[in-house]
Amino acid sequence: MPIPKRPTGKFRRAKARHLLFTSGPNKLSRGRLYKKHLDQSIALNSVEIVSPLWPKAFDGLRIGHVSDFHLGDLMPLERANHAIQLLANQEPDIVVCTGDVVDLHVDKALPLLESLVSINAPLGTMLVLGNHDELDCATTIGSMAINAGITLLRDASCCVRVNGEPFNISGIDWAKSSKRCNQKVERVCDSETHLLLSHNPKAFKQASRMNIPLTLSGHTHGGQMALRNKKGANLALSHRFSAGTYERGDSRLFVTVGVGAWFPLRVNCPAEVAILTVGST
Ligand SMILES: [Fe+2]
Repeated sequence: MPIPKRPTGKFRRAKARHLLFTSGPNKLSRGRLYKKHLDQSIALNSVEIVSPLWPKAFDGLRIGHVSDFHLGDLMPLERANHAIQLLANQEPDIVVCTGDVVDLHVDKALPLLESLVSINAPLGTMLVLGNHDELDCATTIGSMAINAGITLLRDASCCVRVNGEPFNISGIDWAKSSKRCNQKVERVCDSETHLLLSHNPKAFKQASRMNIPLTLSGHTHGGQMALRNKKGANLALSHRFSAGTYERGDSRLFVTVGVGAWFPLRVNCPAEVAILTVGST
């Protein structure tokens, strides 16, 4: 018989925040808040990324990037599957998810993870965990991902072959501060790393110092509320890299605004899945 887990302080605080900013206001609005939120469409954004560091052998690689589902009240499985279908229609070479698969509880995550794998991208499906994936039980959701057929990168690297050449992907676990991100990138990546997956975009500084061609991140949700047509003017105030593409030297970062939400409101910052086409020139 499984031993019941005791929720951590972080989990209890996240649940209280959810009650205060999400489920409570929704009850007060008699369900209108969730309905309005869930009626909003999900954008499919096509993004071209060019880095002189990107090997020519991988020119034109198409990456399906999705992040921050936050499976739960604000992301029923049907909506998650709709987002996944948008990506599947693009037939990406590889699918990457940069964390926060769940909002709070991990127990219903398996069907979502299986849907990601069902895209059947020829180079596979990669996942790093986000801070929300750790609230309930990171080990459980990690095992689910592996059982579903996902390559889980928890401070780890893997290699797949692209046009006969080794394509090296590294992924780091959630780290909050720049300092911790730097340490993880330094430990996990090396001069052969082509692609870094990090929930927190703060990893990009160290990635660029190490000349990693491309870093993919989520976490910020683009602040969920942003000024129209003004890059970086959003509520993700503690993040310099909060939405879209960034350059440092020859390294590139793409931060997706994500497909899910912390609270049922997005202003000038629609939920997205992204199809990235990466080249060297
Ligand atoms: Fe998130």
